[in-house]
Amino acid sequence: MIRIESVTKRYPDGTVAVDHLSLEIPDRAITVLVGPSGCGKTTTLRMINRMVEPSEGSILLDGRDIRQQPVDTLRRSMGYVIQNAGLFQHRTIVDNIATVPRLLGWGKQKARARAAELMERVGLDSALAKRYPYQLSGGQQQRVGVARALAADPPVLLMDEPFSAVDPVVRKGLQDELLRLQDELGKTIVFVTHDIDEAIKLGTMVAVLRTGGRLAQFAPPAELLSAPADPFVEDFLGADRGIRRLSFFPSGDLELQTAPLVAVDADAKRLAAPGPAPYLLVTDHDGKPLGWGAPDDLTAGRIDPALLLPYGRPFVPGKDSLRTALDGAVLSPTGWAVAVDGEGRAVGVVSQQVIGEAIRDAHGRVADRAGVEAAR
Ligand SMILES: Nc1ncnc2c1ncn2[C@@H]1O[C@H](COP(=O)(O)OP(=O)(O)O)[C@@H](O)[C@H]1O
Ligand SMILES: [Mg+2]
Repeated sequence: MIRIESVTKRYPDGTVAVDHLSLEIPDRAITVLVGPSGCGKTTTLRMINRMVEPSEGSILLDGRDIRQQPVDTLRRSMGYVIQNAGLFQHRTIVDNIATVPRLLGWGKQKARARAAELMERVGLDSALAKRYPYQLSGGQQQRVGVARALAADPPVLLMDEPFSAVDPVVRKGLQDELLRLQDELGKTIVFVTHDIDEAIKLGTMVAVLRTGGRLAQFAPPAELLSAPADPFVEDFLGADRGIRRLSFFPSGDLELQTAPLVAVDADAKRLAAPGPAPYLLVTDHDGKPLGWGAPDDLTAGRIDPALLLPYGRPFVPGKDSLRTALDGAVLSPTGWAVAVDGEGRAVGVVSQQVIGEAIRDAHGRVADRAGVEAAR
């Protein structure tokens, strides 16, 4: 949908902010531009809606040069979200969100109804509608910024470090919310950030830029982590690249053991039965994990919760990744991870060793696939 073709931006003072950048931005997906401060991310984003004009090269939207249509029409098809939301301070929340529909000539009622609908969409309480931006938290303001950008239902969303000014917990909430919204709306999103973790979490495709506005690598996040193009990208990805890569390996194929699961009121015979694990996972009456117990410490009908060992953080097979499963195993002193269903009931346990084998298998599959592709 959006094609950036060998675009260069030289500012009047001679600064080359973007240097022969070419990118094919896929439809209905999130493409992230990431790189250190000053590498030309904002300039690139602003060239897409013509707030900045390229010095060389062209940008195509649906195959047509964006200079071939009136700039107003172009901008109406592109919602724009910036850091600190950029809200109109003298307007209420509902009127901020209704800005573009009003500009498009919608009646007041219709525009406000749309704004109310969007507030709900982005997770804002309708009680906030009549407030002013300064009466909202940073995270809430950022949601208003997203709602405002979506108001006229543009196919494209340009987002420039929208979540960078909020604290990490709020940021995570906003990121999750964006992914959920995107599942519903399927917009073509170009998202700028300097935070590589944010890029990897949100991006379908990630463009890593280096200073001087040159493209270092353009790839899906899993590929960035497994095969960084050069030392700059590798360095930018930072430590724990291997562990983070496990986020892209599914946990659904892990073979779970159910024999070590025992209910808190299990009888002596059940507790005495030898199992594959050195410990038993004790569950409550609903089947939710309580903790690991050494068989010797467990007496029928009298399991002392104080003697149980922590079970780490459970994972949901199929939904969570191998990274989460491994984390669970590493967190528990037993070295075993607990698998639960959507309701938090234990469905099995798996050892660090088995998770390790699954990781090796996943590597093998990736290598096979790369081999097949290389042979094509
Ligand atoms: N209006 C401008 N005039 C001159 N130089 C600019 C202007 N805007 C940005 N720059 C320079 O262009 C480079 C890229 O800036 P920018 O696109 O804002 O980077 P980023 O968003 O990645 O931090 C920087 O060196 C910046 O100083
Ligand atoms: Mg910027």
